[in-house]
Order: sequence, then C-alpha cells, then structure tokens
Amino acid sequence: MSTVLVTGGAGFIGSHTCVELLDAGFNIIVLDNFSNSKPESLRRIEKISGKSFKFYEADLLDLDAVNRVFDENPEIDAVIHFAGLKAVGESVSKPVEYYHNNITGTLMLIKAMRTHNVKRIVFSSSATVYGVNNPVPYVETMPTNSSTNPYGYTKVMIEQILKDVYAADNEWSISLLRYFNPIGAHSSGLIGEDPNGIPNNLFPYIQQVATGKREFLGVFGNDYDTPDGTGVRDYIHVVDLAKGHLCAVKYVMEHKGVEAVNLGTGKGSSVLDVLHAFEKACGKELPYKIMPRRAGDIDCYYAAPTKAKELFNWEAKYTIDDMCRDGWNFARQNPDGYGEG
Ligand code: NAD
Ligand code: UD1
Repeated sequence: MSTVLVTGGAGFIGSHTCVELLDAGFNIIVLDNFSNSKPESLRRIEKISGKSFKFYEADLLDLDAVNRVFDENPEIDAVIHFAGLKAVGESVSKPVEYYHNNITGTLMLIKAMRTHNVKRIVFSSSATVYGVNNPVPYVETMPTNSSTNPYGYTKVMIEQILKDVYAADNEWSISLLRYFNPIGAHSSGLIGEDPNGIPNNLFPYIQQVATGKREFLGVFGNDYDTPDGTGVRDYIHVVDLAKGHLCAVKYVMEHKGVEAVNLGTGKGSSVLDVLHAFEKACGKELPYKIMPRRAGDIDCYYAAPTKAKELFNWEAKYTIDDMCRDGWNFARQNPDGYGEG
C-alpha cells in the first residue's frame, strides 16, 4: 500500500482528495498549519472514509518540522502539495507574504523530499498560469510567462522551479496540475468550501446568498463578449478534481518526468448559468445585482482537457447541476461552515 503525504490536506481541495485517497486504499499523512482551514475538516474526512490517519500541525516554512515528518515516516512514497495561500486580491496587497509562503514553503518541502529521497510530487497549479494573452481553450503547451497578480506568479514560478528540479535530477516524477474553477462539495454534505470572511469567489458567495448570510450576489459585469454578457469559466466538481489527483499520484508512481496537465471539463458556464443552476438546486430565487467589472477579470476561459484523458485516463463526470446540488447540500447542512472548528 502506498503512502502519500498531503500538504494542505485540511483545505477545500485537499480534504476531498484525502477522502478519495483513503477510499482507494492509500495511506495518507496530512500536514497543515490551519492558516486557512480548521481541524474539523480532518474529523469529517475520517467520518466519511471510516479510516484514520496521521496528522502534523506544521508550517511548511519550518524546515525542521517538515524534515521531522519524513524522518518519522520513511514509508512516504509521494507528496501531493496543496499548501499555499490562494486569494488573488490579498496577494496584490501582501505580495511578500504570498511569495514567501508559497515559494519558500515549496522550496522547504522539496529540500526535505530530496534529503529523504522522495522524488514524486503532484503540485496544485492553476489555470491562472495561462495569463491573459492566450486564446481559449487553454492547452498545456501555451506560454505561461505572464500573470496578472502575485498569486498567479507564485504558480508560474513554482512550476518553473519544479521543471528545473527535474532537469537537474531525472529521477523525479512531477505532475503540475492546472485546476480550472473547482466548486461543489462531497455528496455527504460533510466537507465543502468554508472561506474566511466575505467570499472572493463566485460559488461560495452564491452559497451564502442561498443560506441568507448575504443579501444578494453582485454580478461583476454583464458587458463581456460572452453569450449573456457575464464572465464564462470552466467550473469543475471538486470530487472530479480530487479523483484527478488520484490518477496523477498513480501516474507519478510509475513514470519519471515532469508533466503539466489541465484539470477542467472543457465546458464554459457564465455567472448567470451558475446562479440559475443553484436556484434550481435550492428551490428559490436568488437576488442579484449587476455591478461594475472586477479589475483583472477576463471574459472567458476554459480547458482543453484532452491531455488528462490521454495521460491519466481521467475526465470530469459531474455537471453544473451536480455541483450546485452538492454545494447546496453542504451549505444547507453547514450554514456556518465548520463553525469554530
Ligand atoms: P485552501 O486554502 O482551502 O487549502 C490550502 C491549505 O493549505 C489550507 O488548509 C491552509 O491552512 C494550508 N496552508 C497554507 N499555507 C501553509 C503552510 N505554509 N504550511 C502548512 N499549511 C499551509 O485552498 P484550496 O482551495 O484547497 O486550494 C489548494 C491548492 O490549490 C492551493 O495551492 C491553491 O492555490 C490551488 N488552487 C486552488 C484553486 C481554487 O479555486 N480553490 C484553483 C487553482 C489552484
Ligand atoms: C479566481 C482567480 C484565479 C483563481 C480562481 C480559483 C481572479 C481574478 N482570479 O478565478 O486566479 O485560480 O479564482 O480560485 O480572482 N463573480 C461575480 N461575483 C462574485 C464573484 C465572482 O460575478 O461575487 C464572477 C467573476 O467576475 C468571474 C466568475 O464569477 O466572471 C468567477 O469568479 P471567481 O469564482 O472569483 O473565479 P475566477 O475569477 O475565474
């Protein structure tokens, strides 16, 4: 049985991936500093899977702590690296904190892995690496040398660092997973997205309008070059995304090299498409107001998902309606998220 260290495993995507890994028979070890998550999510992973696992409350910036995890668990075969800060707007006002946490944190992890001869890693990258100048759909071979914000640049830079790690030592197996827009929740309604404060992203905001926590959704612009004028994105069910990690981890177990792979559905949905699908799921009308465009937004992007199919034999299965049903189920059962956690 293989053992996977999951950094950031208490977070939104990490928690869903832990469930899939446990269900598939992997041993997992989770490392998280709870900077953007709560211990309750770990208890819920155990509840869903009926399995327990080792957890380290540790910061990736603390090299001694990271080394200790590998010292105490020589059976670790691979790492899935989710831990990072992810709020685009915050990264613009706190660039030093974002570069330090995401890049230094990744360098510490790579150092500890190298010391312990663990050379398989699956990294959480983002469609944001495609920047603003590429045509859609985004294909993995497109240039990724531009971004619009420090968060995006941390992903561009970490991808480069990992490519250089492989260039220096061909024993590494590296998967750079470029996520599109993950939304939804586990079908149990036990785990889902629980952002701190006012949500920045569309889906958690809609969830909070549906639970009555927010009065209305602000739709950021209806004059984009899209069918209904609102922004179009490639929304992917977080459970599909989690299953993509399972495929990627199996792939890095068997193949050396470095591969960037899109994880998306290949289909675009507008802000109003998502809002109306959510209304259907929760059975009520959700108020919205058209607002000015948000700085830095682009009209439309979605994935070319074929490489994931070819390499991993993975493709997204769930529809927007599934994402809204499961997202509503989580929001309804957990109107205050994980609470005090
Ligand atoms: P999340 O914030 O829910 O999870 C990240 C986890 O990492 C949190 O539990 C946080 O406490 C932990 N963490 C952060 N810095 C750490 C550190 N220095 N040491 C230890 N733990 C630390 O975010 P998520 O949505 O689950 O995203 C996971 C990864 O996927 C991130 O790297 C994110 O940038 C990337 N990603 C997310 C999206 C998205 O829409 N959610 C899209 C593309 C890429
Ligand atoms: C954002 C990030 C991106 C990151 C991704 C996933 C920006 C500019 N980009 O992508 O780097 O990888 O999240 O975390 O922040 N919208 C509204 N009202 C809202 C919120 C959003 O109308 O209250 C619209 C947006 O204008 C956009 C769409 O909904 O058209 C999706 O927005 P969001 O969920 O924030 O994701 P992205 O902007 O695609």
